[in-house]
Amino acid sequence: MQNSHQKPTGKIDETSILTKLTRRSFLAVTTATMASCNLFSRSKDQPLPAKPQSKQPSGRYAPQGPPPKNQAGNHPSNFSENAGVTFTRVSVLGNYIAITFDDGPHPRNTPRLLDMLAARNIKATFYVIGNSVDANPGILRRTVAEGHEIGNHTQTHRLLTKLSDSEVIKDLRQCEEAIGRAAGVRPRTMRPPYGGLLQRQRQLVLQEFGYPTILWSVDPLDWKRPGPSVVANRIISATSAGGIVLAHDLHSQTVDAMPQTLDTLLRRGFKFVTVSQLIAMQVESTPETPTL
Ligand code: NI
Repeated sequence: MQNSHQKPTGKIDETSILTKLTRRSFLAVTTATMASCNLFSRSKDQPLPAKPQSKQPSGRYAPQGPPPKNQAGNHPSNFSENAGVTFTRVSVLGNYIAITFDDGPHPRNTPRLLDMLAARNIKATFYVIGNSVDANPGILRRTVAEGHEIGNHTQTHRLLTKLSDSEVIKDLRQCEEAIGRAAGVRPRTMRPPYGGLLQRQRQLVLQEFGYPTILWSVDPLDWKRPGPSVVANRIISATSAGGIVLAHDLHSQTVDAMPQTLDTLLRRGFKFVTVSQLIAMQVESTPETPTL
């Protein structure tokens, strides 16, 4: 479908959608979607719920034998400071993808997910909330110890577009400090809650922290809890090379969906890397057009 917001690359510029909204309608949309991380998430080029790729007789994913393993790779993660301000996906050579989990750490779901990732040799990227890090520091330490990347998802998970520059910086700084206290690492990237960050704010965040803003190319709308098989099929059908998958380890259904999701993507030849590794693989610069 043709879309006036669609770039020749097939990418949607979410920020331009914002400019089309009046402030009043924007606030209405914002209020209606505060429970999610997905305010600007659905791209027209992402198919909605996919048909199941393979039918299990029981309707449930029943893996047989050991899970497939992600191809180990010693990929550098030091991307250039000039790599870009915003990423929804990355142009790479090869079937590399990054899967991201937002809004943790969660005391039960995150450890369960870490077990699934370890069994498949997959390194993921976790956009954690500082308040949740403070409540679950041991889980963050385990996440780091097992080789996953930690990204900044702010201390309080507020919509940053409504905050002053100093409040935005403070909320990110507090989360960065919480991560440092708990696990001794510093995030390299950030994801704004609800995907909401003005272009001007993205520049500020890059300047202040060195964080590119990481959005996503695949959104299963898992926060609506459509059931594990729907979450799995949405991710599987929408994922392509260079993609960044959005998911939430806050929700048990999302974690329940991961064995089928991860195994199917691995069997299709996708190779999982962290967000920083994916950006470091970028083969062509895709500068964002400032629209806000
Ligand atoms: Ni979030």
